Amino acid sequence: MPFSRESLDQARRRLRAAGQEHVLSFVDRLTDAQRGALVQQVEGLDLESLPALVDRYVRRKESYHLPEGLAPAPYYPRDPRSTQRPWDASRSRRAGEALLREGAVGVFTVAGGQGTRLGYDGPKGAFIGGAVTGKSLFACIADWIIAAEKRYGRPVPWAIMTSPLNHHATVAYFNEHAFFGLEERDVLFFSQGVLPSLDMETGRLLLSSQGEIATNPDGHGGSLRALHHSGAIAEMKRRGVRHLSYTQIDNPLCRAIDPVFIGLHASAEDSSGEMSSKMVPKTDPGEKVGVFCTAGGKVQVIEYSDLPRDLGEQRDERGGLRFNAGSIAIHMIGVEFVERLNAGGGFGLPLHRAEKKVPFVDLATGARVDPPKPNAVKLEAFVFDAIPMARSSIIYETDRVEEFAPIKNADGADSPATSARIQTLRAARWLESRGVVVPRNPYGEPDCTLEINPITAMDPSDLDPARLPPEIPRGERMAF
Ligand code: UD1
Repeated sequence: MPFSRESLDQARRRLRAAGQEHVLSFVDRLTDAQRGALVQQVEGLDLESLPALVDRYVRRKESYHLPEGLAPAPYYPRDPRSTQRPWDASRSRRAGEALLREGAVGVFTVAGGQGTRLGYDGPKGAFIGGAVTGKSLFACIADWIIAAEKRYGRPVPWAIMTSPLNHHATVAYFNEHAFFGLEERDVLFFSQGVLPSLDMETGRLLLSSQGEIATNPDGHGGSLRALHHSGAIAEMKRRGVRHLSYTQIDNPLCRAIDPVFIGLHASAEDSSGEMSSKMVPKTDPGEKVGVFCTAGGKVQVIEYSDLPRDLGEQRDERGGLRFNAGSIAIHMIGVEFVERLNAGGGFGLPLHRAEKKVPFVDLATGARVDPPKPNAVKLEAFVFDAIPMARSSIIYETDRVEEFAPIKNADGADSPATSARIQTLRAARWLESRGVVVPRNPYGEPDCTLEINPITAMDPSDLDPARLPPEIPRGERMAF
Protein backbone atom coordinates (compact mmCIF):
# COMPACT_ATOMS: atom_id res chain seq x y z
CA MET A 1 0.00 0.00 0.00
CA PRO A 2 1.69 3.33 -1.03
CA PHE A 3 2.12 5.65 1.91
CA SER A 4 2.94 9.34 2.13
CA ARG A 5 3.40 11.71 5.05
CA GLU A 6 0.80 14.09 3.53
CA SER A 7 -1.85 11.41 3.37
CA LEU A 8 -1.19 10.52 7.01
CA ASP A 9 -1.45 14.19 8.03
CA GLN A 10 -4.68 14.54 6.12
CA ALA A 11 -6.09 11.39 7.81
CA ARG A 12 -5.05 12.77 11.20
CA ARG A 13 -6.84 16.07 10.56
CA ARG A 14 -10.06 14.35 9.55
CA LEU A 15 -9.89 11.97 12.54
CA ARG A 16 -9.25 14.84 14.94
CA ALA A 17 -12.24 16.78 13.60
CA ALA A 18 -14.41 13.72 14.22
CA GLY A 19 -12.96 13.18 17.72
CA GLN A 20 -11.35 9.87 16.64
CA GLU A 21 -7.61 10.60 16.61
CA HIS A 22 -6.93 7.61 18.90
CA VAL A 23 -7.12 5.47 15.75
CA LEU A 24 -3.51 6.52 15.09
CA SER A 25 -2.28 5.58 18.60
CA PHE A 26 0.04 2.88 17.28
CA VAL A 27 0.93 4.38 13.92
CA ASP A 28 4.62 4.73 14.83
CA ARG A 29 4.87 1.00 15.45
CA LEU A 30 3.51 0.07 12.02
CA THR A 31 5.47 -0.75 8.87
CA ASP A 32 5.02 1.61 5.92
CA ALA A 33 2.73 -0.90 4.25
CA GLN A 34 0.56 -1.16 7.36
CA ARG A 35 0.45 2.63 7.69
CA GLY A 36 -0.60 2.92 4.06
CA ALA A 37 -3.39 0.41 4.63
CA LEU A 38 -4.63 2.23 7.72
CA VAL A 39 -4.59 5.60 5.93
CA GLN A 40 -6.49 4.06 3.06
CA GLN A 41 -9.05 2.64 5.46
CA VAL A 42 -9.53 6.07 7.05
CA GLU A 43 -9.92 7.62 3.58
CA GLY A 44 -12.74 5.18 2.85
CA LEU A 45 -14.75 6.11 5.96
CA ASP A 46 -17.40 8.80 6.02
CA LEU A 47 -15.88 10.49 9.10
CA GLU A 48 -17.83 13.66 8.50
CA SER A 49 -21.15 11.89 9.27
CA LEU A 50 -19.71 9.95 12.18
CA PRO A 51 -20.39 12.39 15.06
CA ALA A 52 -24.09 12.44 14.12
CA LEU A 53 -24.18 8.60 14.01
CA VAL A 54 -22.48 8.37 17.40
CA ASP A 55 -24.93 10.83 18.87
CA ARG A 56 -27.93 9.02 17.46
CA TYR A 57 -27.06 5.37 17.94
CA VAL A 58 -24.54 5.33 20.81
CA ARG A 59 -25.48 8.27 23.06
CA ARG A 60 -29.23 8.30 22.41
CA LYS A 61 -29.40 4.57 21.57
CA GLU A 62 -31.99 5.47 18.99
CA SER A 63 -33.97 2.44 18.09
CA TYR A 64 -36.55 1.77 15.46
CA HIS A 65 -39.66 4.00 15.33
CA LEU A 66 -42.78 2.05 14.49
CA PRO A 67 -44.75 3.92 11.81
CA GLU A 68 -48.23 5.21 12.71
CA GLY A 69 -51.35 3.46 11.47
CA LEU A 70 -49.76 0.10 10.78
CA ALA A 71 -52.06 -2.37 8.99
CA PRO A 72 -51.47 -5.78 7.40
CA ALA A 73 -50.37 -5.51 3.76
CA PRO A 74 -52.59 -6.94 0.99
CA TYR A 75 -51.12 -9.66 -1.20
CA TYR A 76 -51.81 -11.79 -4.24
CA PRO A 77 -53.00 -15.11 -2.78
CA ARG A 78 -51.23 -18.27 -3.76
CA ASP A 79 -54.42 -19.67 -5.24
CA PRO A 80 -55.25 -17.30 -8.13
CA ARG A 81 -58.90 -18.43 -8.03
CA SER A 82 -59.24 -17.36 -4.41
CA THR A 83 -62.29 -15.16 -3.93
CA GLN A 84 -60.16 -12.97 -1.66
CA ARG A 85 -58.40 -11.52 -4.71
CA PRO A 86 -58.63 -13.44 -7.99
CA TRP A 87 -55.85 -12.86 -10.50
CA ASP A 88 -54.58 -14.27 -13.76
CA ALA A 89 -51.57 -16.47 -13.03
CA SER A 90 -51.18 -17.66 -16.64
CA ARG A 91 -50.96 -14.08 -17.83
CA SER A 92 -48.23 -13.40 -15.25
CA ARG A 93 -46.38 -16.56 -16.27
CA ARG A 94 -46.49 -15.55 -19.92
CA ALA A 95 -45.18 -12.08 -19.08
CA GLY A 96 -42.37 -13.55 -16.96
CA GLU A 97 -41.42 -16.09 -19.61
CA ALA A 98 -41.35 -13.40 -22.28
CA LEU A 99 -38.87 -11.42 -20.18
CA LEU A 100 -36.74 -14.52 -19.66
CA ARG A 101 -36.72 -15.24 -23.42
CA GLU A 102 -35.63 -11.68 -24.01
CA GLY A 103 -32.71 -12.07 -21.59
CA ALA A 104 -34.17 -9.28 -19.45
CA VAL A 105 -33.83 -11.06 -16.10
CA GLY A 106 -30.78 -11.45 -13.87
CA VAL A 107 -30.29 -13.02 -10.45
CA PHE A 108 -28.90 -11.07 -7.52
CA THR A 109 -27.74 -12.87 -4.38
CA VAL A 110 -26.64 -11.24 -1.15
CA ALA A 111 -23.85 -13.33 0.31
CA GLY A 112 -21.90 -10.83 2.36
CA GLY A 113 -23.15 -11.93 5.77
CA GLN A 114 -20.73 -13.29 8.34
CA GLY A 115 -22.43 -16.66 9.04
CA THR A 116 -21.61 -16.30 12.75
CA ARG A 117 -24.76 -18.18 13.82
CA LEU A 118 -23.70 -21.17 11.72
CA GLY A 119 -20.29 -21.26 13.38
CA TYR A 120 -18.82 -21.59 9.88
CA ASP A 121 -15.66 -19.78 8.88
CA GLY A 122 -15.83 -19.74 5.09
CA PRO A 123 -18.30 -17.86 2.89
CA LYS A 124 -21.81 -18.97 3.87
CA GLY A 125 -22.52 -19.89 0.24
CA ALA A 126 -19.90 -22.66 0.49
CA PHE A 127 -21.90 -24.32 3.26
CA ILE A 128 -23.89 -27.48 2.54
CA GLY A 129 -27.28 -26.77 0.97
CA GLY A 130 -28.49 -29.89 -0.90
CA ALA A 131 -30.34 -32.41 1.32
CA VAL A 132 -28.91 -35.47 -0.47
CA THR A 133 -26.09 -34.26 -2.69
CA GLY A 134 -24.63 -31.96 -0.06
CA LYS A 135 -24.01 -29.43 -2.83
CA SER A 136 -23.25 -25.95 -1.62
CA LEU A 137 -25.74 -23.10 -1.20
CA PHE A 138 -24.08 -21.36 -4.15
CA ALA A 139 -24.54 -24.48 -6.30
CA CYS A 140 -28.24 -24.59 -5.40
CA ILE A 141 -28.75 -21.16 -6.99
CA ALA A 142 -26.37 -21.88 -9.88
CA ASP A 143 -28.52 -24.89 -10.84
CA TRP A 144 -31.63 -22.70 -11.06
CA ILE A 145 -29.76 -20.36 -13.36
CA ILE A 146 -28.56 -23.22 -15.56
CA ALA A 147 -32.12 -24.62 -15.71
CA ALA A 148 -33.55 -21.23 -16.73
CA GLU A 149 -30.83 -20.62 -19.32
CA LYS A 150 -31.56 -24.01 -20.90
CA ARG A 151 -35.30 -23.46 -20.91
CA TYR A 152 -35.40 -19.89 -22.16
CA GLY A 153 -32.28 -19.91 -24.30
CA ARG A 154 -30.75 -16.73 -22.92
CA PRO A 155 -27.98 -16.06 -20.38
CA VAL A 156 -29.16 -15.15 -16.91
CA PRO A 157 -26.37 -13.01 -15.44
CA TRP A 158 -25.79 -13.50 -11.73
CA ALA A 159 -24.66 -10.64 -9.48
CA ILE A 160 -23.25 -11.82 -6.17
CA MET A 161 -22.65 -9.40 -3.34
CA THR A 162 -19.80 -10.37 -1.04
CA SER A 163 -18.23 -8.36 1.75
CA PRO A 164 -14.58 -7.35 2.20
CA LEU A 165 -14.40 -10.20 4.72
CA ASN A 166 -15.30 -12.97 2.28
CA HIS A 167 -14.81 -11.52 -1.21
CA HIS A 168 -11.57 -13.27 -2.11
CA ALA A 169 -12.64 -16.56 -0.54
CA THR A 170 -15.89 -16.44 -2.53
CA VAL A 171 -14.21 -15.78 -5.86
CA ALA A 172 -11.65 -18.51 -5.14
CA TYR A 173 -14.48 -20.92 -4.28
CA PHE A 174 -16.16 -20.30 -7.64
CA ASN A 175 -12.88 -20.84 -9.44
CA GLU A 176 -12.23 -24.10 -7.59
CA HIS A 177 -15.67 -25.32 -8.65
CA ALA A 178 -15.43 -24.20 -12.27
CA PHE A 179 -18.24 -21.71 -11.67
CA PHE A 180 -20.64 -24.62 -11.11
CA GLY A 181 -21.03 -25.00 -14.87
CA LEU A 182 -21.93 -21.35 -15.47
CA GLU A 183 -20.13 -19.06 -17.90
CA GLU A 184 -17.57 -17.16 -15.87
CA ARG A 185 -18.40 -13.94 -17.73
CA ASP A 186 -22.01 -14.14 -16.54
CA VAL A 187 -21.10 -14.07 -12.84
CA LEU A 188 -20.48 -10.57 -11.49
CA PHE A 189 -18.98 -10.34 -8.02
CA PHE A 190 -18.90 -7.13 -6.08
CA SER A 191 -18.25 -6.29 -2.49
CA GLN A 192 -20.58 -4.41 -0.20
CA GLY A 193 -19.44 -1.50 1.92
CA VAL A 194 -18.55 -1.49 5.60
CA LEU A 195 -19.41 0.70 8.56
CA PRO A 196 -17.18 1.11 11.60
CA SER A 197 -18.18 -0.77 14.73
CA LEU A 198 -18.48 1.74 17.59
CA ASP A 199 -17.55 1.39 21.24
CA MET A 200 -20.87 1.09 23.08
CA GLU A 201 -19.84 3.39 25.95
CA THR A 202 -17.87 6.12 24.20
CA GLY A 203 -18.79 5.96 20.52
CA ARG A 204 -15.10 5.66 19.67
CA LEU A 205 -13.94 3.69 16.67
CA LEU A 206 -12.49 0.35 17.77
CA LEU A 207 -9.22 -1.03 16.47
CA SER A 208 -9.25 -4.68 15.45
CA SER A 209 -5.44 -4.60 15.37
CA GLN A 210 -2.95 -1.82 15.91
CA GLY A 211 -3.17 -0.94 12.26
CA GLU A 212 -6.82 -1.62 11.45
CA ILE A 213 -10.20 -0.15 12.37
CA ALA A 214 -12.89 -2.68 13.33
CA THR A 215 -15.68 -2.59 10.75
CA ASN A 216 -18.72 -4.66 9.89
CA PRO A 217 -20.52 -5.18 6.56
CA ASP A 218 -23.15 -2.45 6.13
CA GLY A 219 -26.10 -4.87 5.91
CA HIS A 220 -27.82 -6.21 2.80
CA GLY A 221 -29.34 -2.74 2.44
CA GLY A 222 -25.85 -1.71 1.38
CA SER A 223 -26.43 -3.73 -1.77
CA LEU A 224 -28.56 -1.09 -3.46
CA ARG A 225 -25.69 1.38 -3.33
CA ALA A 226 -22.97 -1.22 -3.96
CA LEU A 227 -24.80 -2.46 -7.09
CA HIS A 228 -24.41 1.06 -8.44
CA HIS A 229 -20.91 1.93 -7.20
CA SER A 230 -19.43 -1.36 -8.35
CA GLY A 231 -20.77 -0.86 -11.87
CA ALA A 232 -22.79 -4.09 -11.62
CA ILE A 233 -26.09 -2.37 -12.36
CA ALA A 234 -24.64 -0.59 -15.40
CA GLU A 235 -23.31 -3.94 -16.62
CA MET A 236 -26.71 -5.59 -16.13
CA LYS A 237 -28.32 -2.78 -18.11
CA ARG A 238 -25.73 -3.08 -20.87
CA ARG A 239 -26.73 -6.73 -21.18
CA GLY A 240 -30.41 -5.82 -21.52
CA VAL A 241 -31.36 -6.94 -17.99
CA ARG A 242 -34.34 -4.98 -16.64
CA HIS A 243 -35.25 -6.95 -13.53
CA LEU A 244 -33.25 -8.72 -10.84
CA SER A 245 -34.46 -11.71 -8.90
CA TYR A 246 -33.15 -11.07 -5.36
CA THR A 247 -32.27 -14.03 -3.15
CA GLN A 248 -30.47 -14.52 0.13
CA ILE A 249 -27.72 -17.11 0.13
CA ASP A 250 -29.20 -19.01 3.07
CA ASN A 251 -32.24 -20.55 1.34
CA PRO A 252 -31.39 -23.59 -0.83
CA LEU A 253 -35.05 -24.08 -1.78
CA CYS A 254 -35.49 -20.59 -3.22
CA ARG A 255 -36.83 -20.59 -6.79
CA ALA A 256 -34.19 -18.20 -8.04
CA ILE A 257 -36.13 -17.95 -11.30
CA ASP A 258 -39.90 -17.89 -10.96
CA PRO A 259 -41.69 -16.80 -14.15
CA VAL A 260 -45.01 -16.13 -12.38
CA PHE A 261 -43.43 -13.84 -9.79
CA ILE A 262 -41.30 -12.12 -12.43
CA GLY A 263 -44.38 -11.50 -14.57
CA LEU A 264 -46.50 -10.28 -11.68
CA HIS A 265 -43.78 -7.86 -10.60
CA ALA A 266 -43.23 -6.53 -14.12
CA SER A 267 -46.80 -6.35 -15.34
CA ALA A 268 -49.43 -6.33 -12.56
CA GLU A 269 -51.52 -3.17 -12.75
CA ASP A 270 -50.75 -2.19 -9.18
CA SER A 271 -47.00 -2.87 -9.47
CA SER A 272 -44.57 -0.16 -10.50
CA GLY A 273 -42.08 -2.92 -11.38
CA GLU A 274 -39.64 -1.44 -8.89
CA MET A 275 -39.60 -3.75 -5.89
CA SER A 276 -41.90 -6.71 -5.21
CA SER A 277 -41.82 -9.42 -2.56
CA LYS A 278 -42.86 -12.95 -1.73
CA MET A 279 -44.48 -13.88 1.54
CA VAL A 280 -45.53 -17.02 3.40
CA PRO A 281 -48.12 -17.11 6.17
CA LYS A 282 -46.29 -17.08 9.50
CA THR A 283 -46.34 -20.33 11.50
CA ASP A 284 -46.67 -18.62 14.87
CA PRO A 285 -46.29 -15.11 16.32
CA GLY A 286 -42.73 -15.85 17.44
CA GLU A 287 -41.40 -16.95 14.06
CA LYS A 288 -38.28 -14.94 13.22
CA VAL A 289 -39.35 -13.43 9.92
CA GLY A 290 -40.12 -9.82 9.04
CA VAL A 291 -43.79 -8.96 8.47
CA PHE A 292 -45.31 -7.07 5.52
CA CYS A 293 -47.41 -4.12 6.65
CA THR A 294 -48.73 -0.92 5.18
CA ALA A 295 -48.46 2.54 6.67
CA GLY A 296 -49.27 5.81 4.94
CA GLY A 297 -50.28 3.91 1.82
CA LYS A 298 -46.85 2.29 1.47
CA VAL A 299 -45.84 -1.34 1.82
CA GLN A 300 -43.04 -2.00 4.27
CA VAL A 301 -41.43 -4.80 6.22
CA ILE A 302 -41.31 -4.58 9.99
CA GLU A 303 -38.44 -6.75 11.20
CA TYR A 304 -39.38 -9.46 13.71
CA SER A 305 -37.42 -7.80 16.47
CA ASP A 306 -39.25 -4.49 15.89
CA LEU A 307 -42.84 -5.75 15.80
CA PRO A 308 -44.40 -5.20 19.22
CA ARG A 309 -45.61 -8.44 20.76
CA ASP A 310 -49.25 -7.33 21.08
CA LEU A 311 -49.42 -6.56 17.36
CA GLY A 312 -47.65 -9.79 16.45
CA GLU A 313 -50.18 -11.78 18.44
CA GLN A 314 -53.36 -10.07 17.16
CA ARG A 315 -55.86 -12.41 15.47
CA ASP A 316 -58.32 -11.75 12.66
CA GLU A 317 -62.00 -12.72 12.67
CA ARG A 318 -61.13 -16.24 11.40
CA GLY A 319 -58.61 -16.79 14.17
CA GLY A 320 -55.54 -16.43 11.95
CA LEU A 321 -52.68 -14.06 12.74
CA ARG A 322 -53.67 -10.55 11.67
CA PHE A 323 -50.08 -9.70 10.69
CA ASN A 324 -49.41 -13.02 9.00
CA ALA A 325 -47.46 -12.04 5.88
CA GLY A 326 -43.97 -13.31 6.70
CA SER A 327 -41.09 -12.06 4.57
CA ILE A 328 -38.90 -14.82 3.16
CA ALA A 329 -36.49 -12.24 1.78
CA ILE A 330 -37.24 -12.96 -1.87
CA HIS A 331 -37.81 -9.91 -4.03
CA MET A 332 -37.85 -8.71 -7.61
CA ILE A 333 -35.98 -5.44 -8.08
CA GLY A 334 -36.16 -3.24 -11.17
CA VAL A 335 -32.83 -2.12 -12.62
CA GLU A 336 -34.32 1.33 -13.19
CA PHE A 337 -35.34 1.47 -9.54
CA VAL A 338 -31.74 0.94 -8.42
CA GLU A 339 -30.64 3.62 -10.88
CA ARG A 340 -33.30 6.05 -9.67
CA LEU A 341 -32.32 5.53 -6.03
CA ASN A 342 -28.68 6.26 -6.80
CA ALA A 343 -29.30 9.22 -9.08
CA GLY A 344 -28.23 12.68 -7.91
CA GLY A 345 -27.03 12.68 -4.35
CA GLY A 346 -28.02 9.06 -3.76
CA PHE A 347 -30.40 7.92 -1.06
CA GLY A 348 -30.34 6.92 2.57
CA LEU A 349 -31.81 3.81 4.16
CA PRO A 350 -32.44 3.90 7.90
CA LEU A 351 -29.79 2.20 10.01
CA HIS A 352 -30.62 -0.52 12.51
CA ARG A 353 -28.45 -0.85 15.61
CA ALA A 354 -27.35 -4.08 17.26
CA GLU A 355 -25.14 -4.57 20.31
CA LYS A 356 -22.42 -7.14 19.60
CA LYS A 357 -19.15 -8.51 20.94
CA VAL A 358 -16.31 -7.07 18.85
CA PRO A 359 -12.68 -7.92 19.70
CA PHE A 360 -10.56 -4.76 20.03
CA VAL A 361 -7.10 -3.44 20.86
CA ASP A 362 -6.70 -1.91 24.32
CA LEU A 363 -5.35 1.59 23.69
CA ALA A 364 -3.30 1.57 26.93
CA THR A 365 -1.50 -1.73 26.39
CA GLY A 366 -1.80 -2.43 22.69
CA ALA A 367 -3.06 -5.93 23.49
CA ARG A 368 -6.09 -7.46 21.78
CA VAL A 369 -9.10 -8.09 24.02
CA ASP A 370 -11.92 -10.59 23.43
CA PRO A 371 -14.83 -9.00 25.29
CA PRO A 372 -17.00 -11.36 27.37
CA LYS A 373 -20.15 -9.33 26.70
CA PRO A 374 -21.37 -6.96 23.98
CA ASN A 375 -19.11 -3.93 23.83
CA ALA A 376 -19.93 -2.45 20.46
CA VAL A 377 -22.73 -0.98 18.41
CA LYS A 378 -22.98 -2.34 14.88
CA LEU A 379 -25.09 -0.49 12.34
CA GLU A 380 -26.71 -2.12 9.32
CA ALA A 381 -29.12 -1.13 6.55
CA PHE A 382 -31.85 -3.57 5.46
CA VAL A 383 -32.76 -3.96 1.80
CA PHE A 384 -36.48 -4.18 2.51
CA ASP A 385 -36.42 -0.62 3.83
CA ALA A 386 -36.26 0.40 0.17
CA ILE A 387 -39.75 -1.03 -0.48
CA PRO A 388 -41.56 2.16 0.61
CA MET A 389 -39.39 4.08 -1.85
CA ALA A 390 -41.06 2.23 -4.71
CA ARG A 391 -44.07 3.97 -6.21
CA SER A 392 -46.23 0.88 -5.85
CA SER A 393 -45.05 -2.44 -4.50
CA ILE A 394 -46.83 -5.80 -4.62
CA ILE A 395 -46.59 -8.98 -2.53
CA TYR A 396 -47.16 -12.51 -3.75
CA GLU A 397 -48.04 -15.37 -1.42
CA THR A 398 -46.15 -18.58 -1.85
CA ASP A 399 -46.02 -21.89 -0.08
CA ARG A 400 -43.32 -22.36 2.49
CA VAL A 401 -42.69 -25.99 1.49
CA GLU A 402 -42.23 -24.90 -2.11
CA GLU A 403 -39.54 -22.35 -1.43
CA PHE A 404 -38.44 -21.61 2.09
CA ALA A 405 -35.98 -23.90 3.82
CA PRO A 406 -33.36 -21.52 5.21
CA ILE A 407 -30.11 -22.60 6.84
CA LYS A 408 -29.13 -20.10 9.51
CA ASN A 409 -28.10 -22.16 12.54
CA ALA A 410 -25.97 -25.27 12.96
CA ASP A 411 -28.75 -27.03 14.95
CA GLY A 412 -32.37 -26.58 15.88
CA ALA A 413 -34.64 -24.25 13.90
CA ASP A 414 -33.48 -23.21 10.41
CA SER A 415 -30.62 -25.71 10.37
CA PRO A 416 -29.34 -28.16 7.72
CA ALA A 417 -31.60 -30.82 9.29
CA THR A 418 -34.82 -28.77 9.08
CA SER A 419 -33.88 -27.61 5.59
CA ALA A 420 -33.34 -31.21 4.43
CA ARG A 421 -36.74 -32.10 5.84
CA ILE A 422 -38.49 -29.33 3.91
CA GLN A 423 -36.56 -30.12 0.72
CA THR A 424 -37.73 -33.72 1.09
CA LEU A 425 -41.34 -32.66 1.69
CA ARG A 426 -41.34 -30.65 -1.51
CA ALA A 427 -39.71 -33.41 -3.54
CA ALA A 428 -42.13 -35.99 -2.11
CA ARG A 429 -45.07 -33.80 -3.07
CA TRP A 430 -43.75 -33.38 -6.63
CA LEU A 431 -42.93 -37.08 -7.06
CA GLU A 432 -46.30 -38.22 -5.70
CA SER A 433 -48.05 -35.88 -8.12
CA ARG A 434 -46.28 -37.88 -10.88
CA GLY A 435 -47.39 -41.26 -9.51
CA VAL A 436 -44.31 -42.23 -7.48
CA VAL A 437 -45.00 -43.96 -4.15
CA VAL A 438 -43.12 -42.21 -1.34
CA PRO A 439 -42.80 -44.07 1.99
CA ARG A 440 -44.29 -42.13 4.89
CA ASN A 441 -43.95 -42.62 8.64
CA PRO A 442 -46.93 -42.86 11.02
CA TYR A 443 -46.96 -39.04 11.25
CA GLY A 444 -47.37 -38.78 7.50
CA GLU A 445 -43.83 -37.46 6.94
CA PRO A 446 -41.67 -38.90 4.15
CA ASP A 447 -39.51 -41.72 5.47
CA CYS A 448 -36.60 -40.96 3.16
CA THR A 449 -34.44 -38.00 2.09
CA LEU A 450 -35.08 -36.50 -1.34
CA GLU A 451 -33.71 -33.68 -3.46
CA ILE A 452 -34.79 -32.52 -6.90
CA ASN A 453 -32.37 -30.46 -8.97
CA PRO A 454 -34.08 -27.61 -10.86
CA ILE A 455 -32.16 -28.77 -13.95
CA THR A 456 -34.30 -31.92 -13.73
CA ALA A 457 -37.49 -30.10 -12.88
CA MET A 458 -38.37 -26.47 -12.22
CA ASP A 459 -41.98 -27.55 -11.66
CA PRO A 460 -43.59 -30.94 -10.91
CA SER A 461 -44.87 -31.15 -14.50
CA ASP A 462 -41.25 -31.27 -15.72
CA LEU A 463 -40.77 -34.67 -14.06
CA ASP A 464 -41.09 -37.39 -16.69
CA PRO A 465 -42.92 -40.37 -15.10
CA ALA A 466 -41.15 -42.73 -17.54
CA ARG A 467 -37.82 -41.80 -15.94
CA LEU A 468 -38.96 -42.03 -12.33
CA PRO A 469 -38.91 -45.13 -10.09
CA PRO A 470 -42.38 -46.45 -9.23
CA GLU A 471 -41.51 -46.32 -5.55
CA ILE A 472 -38.86 -44.89 -3.20
CA PRO A 473 -37.50 -47.51 -0.77
CA ARG A 474 -37.99 -46.67 2.91
CA GLY A 475 -34.99 -44.89 4.44
CA GLU A 476 -33.47 -44.19 0.99
CA ARG A 477 -31.57 -41.03 0.06
CA MET A 478 -32.29 -40.09 -3.53
CA ALA A 479 -31.46 -37.12 -5.71
CA PHE A 480 -33.18 -36.47 -9.03
C1 UD1 B 1 -33.63 -12.22 7.30
C2 UD1 B 1 -34.57 -11.02 7.28
C3 UD1 B 1 -35.94 -11.38 7.78
C4 UD1 B 1 -36.46 -12.53 6.92
C5 UD1 B 1 -35.50 -13.70 7.00
C6 UD1 B 1 -35.93 -14.81 6.05
C7 UD1 B 1 -32.97 -9.28 7.78
C8 UD1 B 1 -32.54 -8.20 8.68
N1 UD1 B 1 -34.00 -9.99 8.14
O1 UD1 B 1 -33.38 -12.52 8.66
O2 UD1 B 1 -36.84 -10.29 7.67
O3 UD1 B 1 -37.72 -12.90 7.38
O4 UD1 B 1 -34.19 -13.30 6.60
O5 UD1 B 1 -35.00 -15.83 6.00
O6 UD1 B 1 -32.44 -9.48 6.72
N2 UD1 B 1 -26.21 -10.25 4.35
C9 UD1 B 1 -25.29 -9.60 3.57
N3 UD1 B 1 -24.62 -8.56 4.10
C10 UD1 B 1 -24.81 -8.12 5.36
C11 UD1 B 1 -25.75 -8.79 6.18
C12 UD1 B 1 -26.44 -9.86 5.64
O7 UD1 B 1 -25.09 -9.95 2.40
O8 UD1 B 1 -24.18 -7.14 5.78
C13 UD1 B 1 -26.94 -11.39 3.76
C14 UD1 B 1 -26.55 -12.72 4.39
O9 UD1 B 1 -25.47 -13.30 3.72
C15 UD1 B 1 -27.83 -13.50 4.21
C16 UD1 B 1 -28.92 -12.44 4.30
O10 UD1 B 1 -28.31 -11.21 4.05
O11 UD1 B 1 -27.93 -14.04 2.90
C17 UD1 B 1 -29.73 -12.45 5.60
O12 UD1 B 1 -29.03 -11.93 6.65
P1 UD1 B 1 -29.31 -12.32 8.17
O13 UD1 B 1 -28.66 -11.29 8.98
O14 UD1 B 1 -28.91 -13.73 8.38
O15 UD1 B 1 -30.90 -12.14 8.32
P2 UD1 B 1 -31.94 -12.98 9.21
O16 UD1 B 1 -31.90 -12.55 10.63
O17 UD1 B 1 -31.78 -14.41 8.95
